Amino acid sequence: MKRCLWCKQKAVIFMHEHRLALCRDCYPNWFLRMTGRVIKDRHMISPYDKTLVAVSGGKDSLGLWFALTQLGYEADGLYLDLGISIDEYSTKSKQFAIQLSERIQRPLHILSVAEEVGRTVPDLALASHREPCSACGAVKRYLFNKFALEHGYTVIATGHNLDDEAATLLGNVLRWQLGYLARQAPVLPAKEGLVKRIKPFIRFTEKQVALFTILNGIPYIEQECPFSEGAASLFYKDLLNKIEERSPGTKWAFYSQFVEQIQPLLDEKFPEPELRPCSKCGMPTTAEVCSVCRIKEHALS
Ligand code: AMP
Ligand code: FES
Ligand code: ZN
Repeated sequence: MKRCLWCKQKAVIFMHEHRLALCRDCYPNWFLRMTGRVIKDRHMISPYDKTLVAVSGGKDSLGLWFALTQLGYEADGLYLDLGISIDEYSTKSKQFAIQLSERIQRPLHILSVAEEVGRTVPDLALASHREPCSACGAVKRYLFNKFALEHGYTVIATGHNLDDEAATLLGNVLRWQLGYLARQAPVLPAKEGLVKRIKPFIRFTEKQVALFTILNGIPYIEQECPFSEGAASLFYKDLLNKIEERSPGTKWAFYSQFVEQIQPLLDEKFPEPELRPCSKCGMPTTAEVCSVCRIKEHALS
């Protein structure tokens, strides 16, 4: 049995990449310290910022909201009700977000996609002939940004972890999606009409985040989104876990070397096309009409 390196109690986790075993008492402290370091080193949040955490009711974003408040950041939450009724997915996940908001005594804003865009995510996807996840991703990014702009938030934090980011990276590399690769960074600075976006959990695997959330007694929705079944990202995560098993440390090396060495070069070589206000809603877009207004048009016609 492994012992905690800090206090010699029974360890609950051994992190190969850090050569560190920790017990249930020391692990949450280590996790918070690491989160604080990532935020400071990457200049994610300044003392003048007003932070909005996008909370889905899952372990990552609830863990992130909790960690930020523990670190002294007065972050508020934003929950988007996607209107997914299969297994009462949206209703259940909303309850978990509300529960944490009450525990940490921070406001949770709740927006309904059906009210904001005119249709639920499943209906939008059906009507626009897109995969639910693709319509959903576009609508989420749009509403996070719009809400933050309209309410004076200067930073949007999401719960993306190392497994999420490495899987996205692998998908983009396999198809050499250079434009997407150029934008895949843990911090996307603010631009005209776009609020700064940060991913403070990039240093942790899914399992590490889950352990932090569980040890802090935070209940979360364990079920994946019903539309994610068979998604390529889950397959890539699985592949990366197999590679990690054979060769520990590869996942972090793959992602971090990309972020440090490749992404800045791509960002320079493939600058984002000029943004201008959408002619329908005024939100920034590279086209005449933004993708959400186009999805809406299809869905409501
Ligand atoms: P996903 O794209 O579902 O992997 O989620 C990535 C991150 O987006 C989560 O960690 C949350 O920060 C945010 N997010 C996803 N779904 C929602 C939602 N319904 N409401 C608010 N934030 C969300
Ligand atoms: Fe958006 Fe699954 S379709 S979370
Ligand atoms: Zn628009």
